[in-house]
Amino acid sequence: MKRREFINWVGLAGISSSLPIAIAACTSETASGDWQTVGTVADLDQNGELLVKNWPNVNVLVVGTSQSENLIAVDPTCTHAGCTVTWQAEAKNFNCRCHGSEFGVDGSVQRGPATEPLKTYTAKIENDSVLVQSNKI
Ligand code: FES
Repeated sequence: MKRREFINWVGLAGISSSLPIAIAACTSETASGDWQTVGTVADLDQNGELLVKNWPNVNVLVVGTSQSENLIAVDPTCTHAGCTVTWQAEAKNFNCRCHGSEFGVDGSVQRGPATEPLKTYTAKIENDSVLVQSNKI
């Protein structure tokens, strides 16, 4: 093997061995892939809910705290006529003040006039961030 061939071979070997690491480093943010940060745990804990408008092109309401076993995340746009529903902690449901529809924690319609459920998302806490899975949009 000539000197030039050897140098090229070593260079290729170095690049090819570090390529997976470089790819992993570049994709670590997107590896959690479909998860997008919508706020901080401090924001969520302050009110027990976190409303994010136009994320990225819809609204997301996350309900819970850092102490919750499971976070609830819905698109708070009422399926009846588009008002924004609010979380009712005592009743543990979402209420629309426009015409009185109510939705369960799973987005299901508990009371009309709405007939379609709210969109739901998966949410989690990672370090100090609240994440919502965006591929469900
Ligand atoms: S817009 Fe929500 S009940 Fe009509």
